[in-house]
Amino acid sequence: MASSISKIGVFTSGGDAPGMNAAIRAVVRASAFYEKDVFGIMHGYEGMIDGEIVKLSARSVGNILQRGGTILKSARSENFRTKEGRAQALQNLKRQGIDGLVAIGGDGTFTGLHTFYEEYGIPSVCVPGTIDNDIAGTDYTIGYDTATNTAVEAIDRIRDTALSHNRLFFIEVMGRHSGYIAINSGIAGGAVAVIIPEQEITFDELYSVLEQSGKAHKKSSLIVVAEGSKIGGANELARMVAERSNYFDIKVTILGHLQRGGSPTYFDRVLASRMGVAAVEGLLNGEKDSMVGIYNNKMVFNRFADIMNGQHHAIDGESLRIAKILSI
Ligand code: F6P
Repeated sequence: MASSISKIGVFTSGGDAPGMNAAIRAVVRASAFYEKDVFGIMHGYEGMIDGEIVKLSARSVGNILQRGGTILKSARSENFRTKEGRAQALQNLKRQGIDGLVAIGGDGTFTGLHTFYEEYGIPSVCVPGTIDNDIAGTDYTIGYDTATNTAVEAIDRIRDTALSHNRLFFIEVMGRHSGYIAINSGIAGGAVAVIIPEQEITFDELYSVLEQSGKAHKKSSLIVVAEGSKIGGANELARMVAERSNYFDIKVTILGHLQRGGSPTYFDRVLASRMGVAAVEGLLNGEKDSMVGIYNNKMVFNRFADIMNGQHHAIDGESLRIAKILSI
């Protein structure tokens, strides 16, 4: 593929997500396929600033496809927010001759790279990798499917014990400001209610759902709460219910970082592989300051300015409707 780009730098940044290794592998192997040199930048922007840059080859990414985490490590960098930090990063890239970048991460990662592109014009393509599935311009982000499956497996296990003891469980899942993991693990796990930041619900409304389920002779109930819930997290909601009535035997489980680890699902491996190859091909075809996404099962490129203007990947009303109908 004819392109002026000859050396590609790849890095992971922000919270890790299952499938990031598959994406790294795809970027490295696609670069090798098109006979471009490829470098791994360690610890995200921190390694760019500190000059932690290593040459990679098709062989150095063997046997990582199935592994969670990221072999390139990750970080949330405060230094890259400063002009001095970015200037230092540029020097290190220049020293290696890196003239194209692929970043795998979430919106914080993309915002940093957009600023860097505007300052120094190095062609850059982002690959959405975050369990939160909160990025506009793509139907799915890498890691979301695995994290949601992990949450569903945990919910199923909790259901067993909830049923044995006739208990009410509040299960808190990750997602930062997004309710994606919550709504879909809630539907898949048979939750009686799902509390997500995108939907207005009052505590009274939640309580009446519990009363209804009591009247419907449900022996146990599971409520999935997104960590970004605006009416309180799992602990707080459990406390509020207990204060109103001692009818319920209540327990709380916060799934936390276990949702971030583990071997990626087939879906995330394929998504990461497709996105990694697309990112390199996009870069070589002149993409710059953009993000690869999947839309209607096709790889698409979004200009940074079109997706990072405060918008997030919205949850469709259909999912909310389904969750409500099935909780009767
Ligand atoms: O963005 C991924 C995510 O796991 C969010 O769901 C969560 O709010 C956050 O990262 C946790 O970040 P950290 O690992 O830095 O505590």
